Amino acid sequence: MINALRGMKDLLFDDARRYEHIVGTASAVARNYGFDFVETPILEETRLFKRSVGESSDIVGKEMYQFTDKGGNDVCLRPEGTAGVVRAFVQAKLDRQQGRKYRFFYYGPMFRYERPQKGRLRQFHQFGVESFGEAAVEEDYTLILMLAEIFDRLGIGYRVKINSLGCTACMPPYRKNLVGFLEGIAEELCPDCRRRIATNPIRVLDCKNESCQQLLEEAPKLNESLCEKCDRDFKRLQKLLDASGIDYEVDTHLVRGLDYYSGSAFEFVSDEIGAQSAIAGGGRYDRLVEFLEGRPTPGVGFAIGIERIMELVQMPEERREGWYLGAMDADSLDPILDLARRLRAQGKRVTVEYAPKGLKAHLKGADRAQARYCGVIGENERIRAAIWVKDLEAKEEKILPLETLVSDRVSPSD
Ligand code: HAM
Repeated sequence: MINALRGMKDLLFDDARRYEHIVGTASAVARNYGFDFVETPILEETRLFKRSVGESSDIVGKEMYQFTDKGGNDVCLRPEGTAGVVRAFVQAKLDRQQGRKYRFFYYGPMFRYERPQKGRLRQFHQFGVESFGEAAVEEDYTLILMLAEIFDRLGIGYRVKINSLGCTACMPPYRKNLVGFLEGIAEELCPDCRRRIATNPIRVLDCKNESCQQLLEEAPKLNESLCEKCDRDFKRLQKLLDASGIDYEVDTHLVRGLDYYSGSAFEFVSDEIGAQSAIAGGGRYDRLVEFLEGRPTPGVGFAIGIERIMELVQMPEERREGWYLGAMDADSLDPILDLARRLRAQGKRVTVEYAPKGLKAHLKGADRAQARYCGVIGENERIRAAIWVKDLEAKEEKILPLETLVSDRVSPSD
């Protein structure tokens, strides 16, 4: 037997329904907020992610599904969605439409070669949004609001963490200050943190190691070193969140694992799913379009980890839907097929059993198909151009002329 690769999962039945429901709900919210669907390739040039997500990030440094294709190109499976959408944005020359706003949403598989564990897969799915051309911090607020609305609609509890990662004016002096502090405690930090002092000092702040965290309590705080503009934006964001009743905490150690962020950063976490508790993350990336050779364009976005919320989603009650049709003898199959075609043309869900069977077997089939109506034609019905119908919800049976079903009437029970 050939199994799926380690860290990759099939979505069957209930999981598939949950996936559809999450994507459907999030897409509907995104549309309400003025976002348009976008789809970009899963395979991209490796240098796209090196330049955007950053060479010093774990994602690029350790976790990429990277290979050389038959044409000798260095390619990789996307580890996240933002870089591809920004590439598409620049490629379509949308960066030249200065002053215009573009808002996109997407969903699909992402790939990271991590050690699989609960909540951490090698192929997982994200729902994400990216907003281009809007520099106002109100957009950051709107995206947090949108995430809250998506999770509320899905019946999922969450905590919101926010931080500001500063800009090119305030981040470099802060980083210098931080490196000075970290060098002073380097001996006591874990090997990962020691290495990061040189490569990516900001990421030291979110080390998961308990003893590192204790040492870092004294570290200089990013949000106390912001320039006037970043400070004003961060305070405004908090004020807007206060006014909208969204609870949040300022987490000065929230730095995100991707290098393209500046300004607001946020994460939604759940306390019900174990160690991998981040269910969504995002923030502002005002320099990313430039990193990918576009004209300077502000950007902000987020992504939800679909597998992480799969079990938390409160699913709507499943209802029987549409038709199951079957024949009792070989001669009745053609009128069944004809009826199926006509019902489907009316937009109805129809499953057909091709093998002639007795009534009891068909009723069982209709039950398995979760159909609302079971329609069966045997010799008696065929000669009268009629069909025997059972409404499996109302538990009523009737014999109806075929013509009444294919007229515009919605259900046989009216
Ligand atoms: P991220 O924080 O790397 O951000 O991923 C977003 C979410 O994807 C995480 O909060 C988590 O729920 C889920 N996730 C990440 N890795 C895994 C994994 N191995 N298995 C299962 N779920 C996982 C981004 O990817 C950014 N592109 C978000 C963004 C969009 N920022 C701006 N725009």
